[in-house]
Amino acid sequence: MPCRRYGTLNAIFVIQFFNMEHALIVEKTRDFVRKTLENAEGGHDWWHIHRVWLNAHRIAENEKADMLIVELAALLHDIADSKFHNGDEEIGPETAGKFLNELDIDEDTITHVQQIIRNISFKSGFDQKTFHSKELEIVQDADRLDAIGAIGIARAFSYGGFKGREIFNPEVEPNLNMTKEEYKNSAAPSINHFYEKLLLLKDKMNTETGKKMAEQRHQFMEQYLQQFFDEAGTYIQK
Ligand code: ADP
Ligand code: NI
Repeated sequence: MPCRRYGTLNAIFVIQFFNMEHALIVEKTRDFVRKTLENAEGGHDWWHIHRVWLNAHRIAENEKADMLIVELAALLHDIADSKFHNGDEEIGPETAGKFLNELDIDEDTITHVQQIIRNISFKSGFDQKTFHSKELEIVQDADRLDAIGAIGIARAFSYGGFKGREIFNPEVEPNLNMTKEEYKNSAAPSINHFYEKLLLLKDKMNTETGKKMAEQRHQFMEQYLQQFFDEAGTYIQK
């Protein structure tokens, strides 16, 4: 009897220790990310990360996945985005790896988080897929949800403004067959980005929860574009 009681106590202790470790690691990572992204562009700032982190948590609750990997990857996925670092696609995984190493996290977890950062973005979809995991699917869905709907609209124009892009130019048609290089170097008006990426995301969602969450946000974007072009049409010379 006493033995069994100690067994239970031990198990509780281990679970509590594990949770404490997990919570502490997440907290330290949050602090690091928030500090690093202090001066980031409004669409890729701490609050984007915060939303992606919460989306990821919500999706992961309905999936069989390693929650620590999901949370770390969500928090670190834009820690050094290549768009803001002269196209360098390794600086993100490298920065994340260095930080996680200092926290003494096991190698497998670090490598997994780095692989998610490498493979999450829309532009990495142009490359041959060499890595796949449930955790990647979840964090990718969480990031995509923040690229659509009302928030997605705000982020697209924020990024466009940051890059000095036009909002809309009726003489520049969207390019629906871009290569990765064309996508990366595009300086097209922000409204084109809806046709080149944002409206395509709904059908790229990986998880059932993600798909459901994307539906209404997608519809809202369609509605917004309808209104946008109704208004814009009145200025276009026939
Ligand atoms: P990528 O598309 O390069 O993989 P992200 O997925 O990180 O990059 O893009 C994140 C967000 O940045 C987009 O959802 C959008 O809001 C904004 N963004 C990126 N490229 C453009 C663009 N050409 N025009 C307007 N917004 C953009
Ligand atoms: Ni992101």
